[in-house]
Amino acid sequence: MSRQAATEAKEATVKLRILRGIGDDPATTRYDSFEVPRQDGMVVLNAVHYVQAHFDPSLSARLNCKAGRCGSCSAEINGRPRLMCKTPVDSIEGEITVEPMKAFPRLRDLVTDVSDNWKVAKMIPPFTPKANSEGVWRFYQRDVDRSREFRKCIECFLCQDVCHVVREHEAEYIGPRWVVKAASLDMHPMDGLNRSKFMKDAGGLGYCNITKCCQEICPEHIVITDDAIIPEKERVVDTHYDPLLWVIRHVPRTQDQLEVEVKKVLKVAFWVAILAPWVLVPAYYLFRGIFG
Ligand code: SF4
Ligand code: SF4
Ligand code: FES
Repeated sequence: MSRQAATEAKEATVKLRILRGIGDDPATTRYDSFEVPRQDGMVVLNAVHYVQAHFDPSLSARLNCKAGRCGSCSAEINGRPRLMCKTPVDSIEGEITVEPMKAFPRLRDLVTDVSDNWKVAKMIPPFTPKANSEGVWRFYQRDVDRSREFRKCIECFLCQDVCHVVREHEAEYIGPRWVVKAASLDMHPMDGLNRSKFMKDAGGLGYCNITKCCQEICPEHIVITDDAIIPEKERVVDTHYDPLLWVIRHVPRTQDQLEVEVKKVLKVAFWVAILAPWVLVPAYYLFRGIFG
């Protein structure tokens, strides 16, 4: 057989190795191997379909659009989180190993339970129009471009799957998809809410150490880390940790604000005057008792 004939014969079929199993039951967990005829333009999802149609109808896999639009067919292909319907079999050398996303509990075969994401979605403070924003909203295109980038998300959750914090740690971190969601609201020119306290506390944004893995695998090419996570981190720092900005924010600009700030200072001074003798005097004698 000539070399070209050998190559053609080798490429006539696609070798698939699929992780099977029900829930986390180790007794049902196994890899099944299949060989399916290679076709022009074939993607991994086509090969999985072929297996369902010709070898094993019990193989479970989720899909909807077959066009990279619905985010249903997420899986790990040779260890990398990818959409099965957007991964050509010709782009992979040798055997193709298909596994379910490992960041989520497996229901059956390639189908995982991603429903925890909807609980996180409900936690994010919703879009809140700015005060006095009645009437027609007018803003520049450039002001909504960033927010529109984030709306390309198809909720495939591949970024959640690849994130080591979501995947391997018990940390209370909402994950990259939900930082993108919060950023899409924060960066909308007509939104008036500051979500930085939510992102700092319940959102667990500090757990992200900007490895950029999520950004590399997003099928919609959303620049997750640079355009969403880092600006959200900067908002948290500006709002909660920058002393200069804290002072600037608290400088009174109107008579009413001045009165409020003066009242706050007087209240603090009052409590210091009341409590100081009860704290400072005993502390003084305690200090003298210890250090002579
Ligand atoms: S950049 Fe942050 S969110 Fe993205 S994968 Fe790394 S740790 Fe996770
Ligand atoms: S941000 Fe990208 S990777 Fe993450 S869920 Fe949306 S489309 Fe998928
Ligand atoms: S089937 Fe819809 S994204 Fe793959």
